[in-house]
Amino acid sequence: MSVDVLLGLQWGDEGKGKIVDVLTQNYDIIARFQGGPNAGHTLEFDGEKHVLHTIPSGIFHKTSANVVGNGVVIDPVIFKKEVENLLTHKVDVKQSLLISRKAHLILPTHRLLDAASEKAKGKDKIGSTLKGIGPTYMDKTGRNGLRVGDIELESFYERYQMLRKKHEQLLSHYDFAYQQDLQTMESEWMEAIAYLKELTLIDSEHFIHEALRAQKTILAEGAQGSLLDVDFGSYPFVTSSTTTCAGSCTGLGVAPTKIKRVFGIFKAYCTRVGSGPFPTEIDDEYGRGMQDKGHEYGSTTGRPRRCGWLDLPALKYAIEINGVTDLIMMKGDVLSGFDQLKVCTGYTYRGTQIDHLPYSTEEGELQPVYTELEGWQEDLTLLNSLENAPDAFKKYIQFVEEETGVPVSIVSVGPDRAQTIELRSVTRG
Ligand code: GDP
Ligand code: IMO
Ligand code: MG
Repeated sequence: MSVDVLLGLQWGDEGKGKIVDVLTQNYDIIARFQGGPNAGHTLEFDGEKHVLHTIPSGIFHKTSANVVGNGVVIDPVIFKKEVENLLTHKVDVKQSLLISRKAHLILPTHRLLDAASEKAKGKDKIGSTLKGIGPTYMDKTGRNGLRVGDIELESFYERYQMLRKKHEQLLSHYDFAYQQDLQTMESEWMEAIAYLKELTLIDSEHFIHEALRAQKTILAEGAQGSLLDVDFGSYPFVTSSTTTCAGSCTGLGVAPTKIKRVFGIFKAYCTRVGSGPFPTEIDDEYGRGMQDKGHEYGSTTGRPRRCGWLDLPALKYAIEINGVTDLIMMKGDVLSGFDQLKVCTGYTYRGTQIDHLPYSTEEGELQPVYTELEGWQEDLTLLNSLENAPDAFKKYIQFVEEETGVPVSIVSVGPDRAQTIELRSVTRG
């Protein structure tokens, strides 16, 4: 059997959690392939809202296994809290949550290094979620990291102390007080490590290969978005992992030839949380209107998300990098009430018209060129088929399909599981 991938095409928070939850009924296994607790994936059903950070978004379905892949970085303290919360919802985590031994661990000192580094950058800070993501991936590629499988070794404590010492040396180069915090953080972390040891740890790549041989269906769940990818995002204002489709290969041990459908998810507008270029950002009452109506505040940090118009050249760039086969358009309901909607279809770059994202997207050098589309006034949140949708909404979807050459297979019109319209079959087989 093959693997399908679902990933974000913008700067994260597109609605991945909601759609993975909706699609889980079609898959035996949901597998997160990168990122860590910097992610916040929101699911809403039965009048309740759940936010997952490290755990795959299929976890509320009894029928699927949920794998935390080797490409993920785990903070045991946050992980423990997530698991404890799931237990209150009667999720059988021991059975349905499987953790890769090759996933890397976020240490308390990784978090401190993240904070120290951001503070030292001053006004040039990345706007990191301060979960220790950057320093942990640096230790992974620098071949210093500790992995989940290490907690089963007798030498674990010793190895932990060695890495902590290295980190303390690094921290001493910063003007950053941390000693008091570290003791409390460390004891909480050690407790969480003991908790993690009791969960189900697996050699995840073997598990996935066996599942493929047994004709099982797998959905790989991405975190963040393509424009935050460490290679293809708006560097250096990115995260430290491969958020694009290639990340599902390295983050799960899946061969590229095994990937079939790639679901690319985007908001009908754009948001970004943290620093960095955002060509279509609107810093006026329209932007604030989107922020209020779309409840655009970070699921992990609570920070307000910057809002802007849909950016088609950026979307096309993400579609190409990922080989997207199906688009999923989220939050069209938030755009109800605008007379006119703007969609960016190109840029003026240093005085010349271009239709792609250039290397440098520094403020002042790149201005969006907009096409205006008619807006719609109707509330879309009760819509259950496109037939009854306002014409202007249908035209908006059609415009995206024509411009990108990729079909929109799902449209989401509200945060709840039920507020989802399938336009094209997304069932496997
Ligand atoms: P993720 O990180 O990609 O999983 O997205 P987040 O959960 O961080 O942010 C998406 C937010 O939009 C969450 O609060 C969702 O509940 C909400 N949401 C998802 N789809 C829709 C939609 O179609 N309409 C509206 N109004 N909200 C949505
Ligand atoms: P989900 O999976 C939105 C952003 C941060 C910051 C940059 C680097 O919920 O879509 P990091 O903590 O990784 O060092 O931060 O990336 N960022 C996200 N923005 N959604 C996310 O995840 C994000 N994860 C990281 O705001 O600008
Ligand atoms: Mg999010």
